[in-house]
Amino acid sequence: MTIPWHHKTTIYQIYPRSFYDSNGDGIGDIPGIIQKLDYIHELGFETIWISPFFASPQADTGYDISDYTDIAPEYGTMCDALQLIDEVHKRGMRIVFDMVMNHTSIEHPWFKESRSSRGSPKADWYIWRGSPLPMGEGPGVRVKPNNWQSITGGSGWHYARERGQYFWASFLPFQPDLNYRNPEVKEAMLNIVRFWLGKGVDGFRLDIFNVIYKDAEFRDNPFTFKLMPTEDDPSGFFQEAKYTLNQPESFTFARELRNVCDKFGEKLLLGEVSGNKQIIRKFLGKENNDGLTLVFDFEMLGFKFAAEYFRELIRNTEKHFPDPFMPVYVFSNHDRRRSIHRLGNDPRKAKLLHMLQLTVRGVPCMYYGEEIGMTNARFPFATALDPIPHKFKFLPRFVFDILGLTINRDEVRTPMQWDGTRNAGFSSAEKTWLPLHGNYRGVNAEKQSDAKDSLLNTIRTLLKIRREKRPLQEGSMKLMDNLPAGVLGYARKFGDENILVLLNFAGQEIEFQFENQECIFKLSQRDERKENTIYLDGLGGMILKANAMPKK
Ligand code: NOJ
Repeated sequence: MTIPWHHKTTIYQIYPRSFYDSNGDGIGDIPGIIQKLDYIHELGFETIWISPFFASPQADTGYDISDYTDIAPEYGTMCDALQLIDEVHKRGMRIVFDMVMNHTSIEHPWFKESRSSRGSPKADWYIWRGSPLPMGEGPGVRVKPNNWQSITGGSGWHYARERGQYFWASFLPFQPDLNYRNPEVKEAMLNIVRFWLGKGVDGFRLDIFNVIYKDAEFRDNPFTFKLMPTEDDPSGFFQEAKYTLNQPESFTFARELRNVCDKFGEKLLLGEVSGNKQIIRKFLGKENNDGLTLVFDFEMLGFKFAAEYFRELIRNTEKHFPDPFMPVYVFSNHDRRRSIHRLGNDPRKAKLLHMLQLTVRGVPCMYYGEEIGMTNARFPFATALDPIPHKFKFLPRFVFDILGLTINRDEVRTPMQWDGTRNAGFSSAEKTWLPLHGNYRGVNAEKQSDAKDSLLNTIRTLLKIRREKRPLQEGSMKLMDNLPAGVLGYARKFGDENILVLLNFAGQEIEFQFENQECIFKLSQRDERKENTIYLDGLGGMILKANAMPKK
């Protein structure tokens, strides 16, 4: 049986503001992405996901949309967007847009109308609660509809004087949630989905898809002792997010959305969801995977660099996402720490991490710049463009450092480091929208293209091997037992072809007995296979061709 293209593809995430500035205004744009498509194509990724570039006041850099079928002028025009789709397809690649269905910008005409009066035709398009108070009544008298907290902390209810009511915002106050219990809203949003599918996009990454529905009865969320939300459990700020996340209607909606998209062919639907594996799996639908086609599992963003950690992760992932489901392997994005930052900025560790990501059973999703080891910048909260750190300005910075949290997302969104010239070749502007990371003269794509063993070239080679070897794209997956501590190994099989992957997470060389297999890739120059023995350098790794799957 063949598996759909979106279960065997490789995804490269572009943050458009930071990728390439073609017109010298300091902001990346769509024509800039088009100019750099050959870079991504030659690197070997097959699908591109682009963070939003639609019309927006940019209060949350594009995740606050004011028109879903128009392009923000700093990024280009509709013509540029259509050309981008076309240019991607000409190269045999696919393109996925970012669909923010849960909320609009406060500037969206729908919200303006909804807010204007309780009698407006779109009065019920957003989530409004609370009985109207006589005009002019002081803030002390108002009572929030219930105890619900937003994902970013603090109440998500915001008062609008025009209606004397509160509207609900799951994320930030300028991102009001749409009311999907109103069939008109659902249809309007599905029409936007149809609009872009009609233009040829190959699917969508779905922003905070798990908050689309909230409890119909608006019941209070229960208390919990949990302070900070974690990847496997989004509850936090002393509240269990029982009625604000992962409602049964959201799982049903995933299937409805899939149904709409299926009319346009095989489309990729990648959900940004949160919760443990059992919960996020529900977004994929029934046993035949009739819901979203893929979901992120953000537990991986908190990875520990250890063979045992990855062994357990893979074991668990395989348990919850067996065929016909396909897991996604992701280690960073525009909201979280750069992966190499978590690895003490050690490119050898980054090579090993990405070798795992590109050979394990799953769709790899890599954030721009990871391929050259771009790392976190450090900026003060007070001057952040990202709205989140402004919410936490009262807390000392070291609290977040200890918790290992990137609160100021500007730090992971710095412009792409193309070369060692001014502005890293990203822009000819006097000032770029965010400062460059100070290390760009040493860490950039041009320099790494020329260095045979660079992180960039390692990733290029691994992507090439993956494209050539069907076991790596769509083969079964079996963890190997009885390997020395510190070594992770797995076998991938498709038809008669068997591929073995060995990864040494330990800092020192490890030698062990291993049946004769043919080595097709080694990570470190010193990795070696002699007769029935394997020598893996500290942080080394090998891909081997085997005649049979290992017995254990
Ligand atoms: C998740 C996105 O990844 C993030 O960047 C954005 O701020 C929020 N959703 C709100 O849309």
